Amino acid sequence: MTHGAQLKPAVAHRADRLAGTIRIPGDKSISHRSFMFGGLASGQTRIKGLLEGEDVLATGAAMRAMGAHIHKEADEWIIDGVGNGCLLAPEGPLDFGNAGTGVRLTMGLVGSYAFKSTFTGDASLSGRPMGRVLDPLRQMGVQVSAASGDRLPVTLEGPRIANPIRYTVPMASAQVKSAVLLAGLNAPGTTTVIEKVMTRDHTEKMLVGFGAQLSVDTAPDGVRTIELQGQGLLHGQTIDVPGDPSSTAFPLVAALLVPGSDVVINNVLMNPTRTGLITTLLEMGASIEIVNPRQSGGEAVADLHVRASMLTGVDVPAERAPSMIDEYPALAVAAAFAQGETVMNGLEELRVKESDRLSAVATGLKLNGVDCDEGESTLTVRGVPGGNGLGSPNAMAVVATHLDHRIAMSFLVMGLAAQHPVCVDDAAIITTSFPEFMDMMSGLGAHIEFRQEAA
Ligand code: S3P
Repeated sequence: MTHGAQLKPAVAHRADRLAGTIRIPGDKSISHRSFMFGGLASGQTRIKGLLEGEDVLATGAAMRAMGAHIHKEADEWIIDGVGNGCLLAPEGPLDFGNAGTGVRLTMGLVGSYAFKSTFTGDASLSGRPMGRVLDPLRQMGVQVSAASGDRLPVTLEGPRIANPIRYTVPMASAQVKSAVLLAGLNAPGTTTVIEKVMTRDHTEKMLVGFGAQLSVDTAPDGVRTIELQGQGLLHGQTIDVPGDPSSTAFPLVAALLVPGSDVVINNVLMNPTRTGLITTLLEMGASIEIVNPRQSGGEAVADLHVRASMLTGVDVPAERAPSMIDEYPALAVAAAFAQGETVMNGLEELRVKESDRLSAVATGLKLNGVDCDEGESTLTVRGVPGGNGLGSPNAMAVVATHLDHRIAMSFLVMGLAAQHPVCVDDAAIITTSFPEFMDMMSGLGAHIEFRQEAA
């Protein structure tokens, strides 16, 4: 679905108390990879707990267009894959909508094939840089034709035999790391990816699960060298997708901020490359009990018992950014209600997300009465415990979400704790990653409604 034409403004009102037990939908990163690797592997892959957001469904549609058979039986997605090296040329452009992970990883997956594939997306995705993936693909012999500035639409055509490369990822990006590794699946010999800062490791773990020959060496300084042997056999797997820690951020922060709240969030992925927000909130004095820690499908999972808390501002170190890269908008909202100042460092990658999130967050906070400073790669927020004066009297000010689901959800959460309502210009975009958000928050006692009038 292409968003943008039909915005659905929404407004969130101060809540009395949030209470209940919820189960967060499946992790977006793992869901994308489940469709991709299941579609590529030989034999059958069965997936439970898949996130059925628009982003992931776009990846499923792309895998279908390249030969995978995908269907759903009861609560299970069943994929009959094509076999590694056997993707078919898609007949038309692959439309990824809003999904950066979907398009960047799939460009890696199919870009090294000796046929043409074309990639398109919505206005947000078409404004995002693709050069970070196209550059290593060019080194592998892929011919690239792209809109100016290496933006979508992009057409790729791989060489007869792709060149396996040794590539150091220039920025902290799991998408770039993954795209190169996936291109390496169709190249002879060893593809090597070096990452100086560890990012989410779902690609490495899941590829090993599917039978890929992949090894990781971590040097004493933390630099990781990942080696993949190309053209190996991949076998279908059974996957149970754990709950998304990035979606968890919204009810989690809401429960901390709304006085008297008591919420249990079940089945949350606790992979250490994803738990930076929990670490930070605990430092701020949050009451988050990590209950029933366990292993599920090779990943750490736990339930979170969250109680309303008085938060105190902290300095968030730049090194933590990769483990909470999608959580800064939610953290910034938490910081708006904390005692004192919260300083977030190392945020340069926020500028190239679904929106320029650093600017979108700072602008939205200021619009709702929060004292904050936007630096080149930092955000400083001075909080108002209790939220008096925050929000927009008579709901007149409207936050611009820029087709960014996390901006929409963050500011709706803000409205649950601010003195005045908080409005966003669009809540329809939330369905890209968390279609259950509105109902789940209402079930906990939140009052969020769509507005009739256009923003
Ligand atoms: C993702 C990696 C991150 C993250 C995105 C999902 C992934 O992007 O922001 O939501 O699944 O690999 P970057 O690689 O651009 O940091």
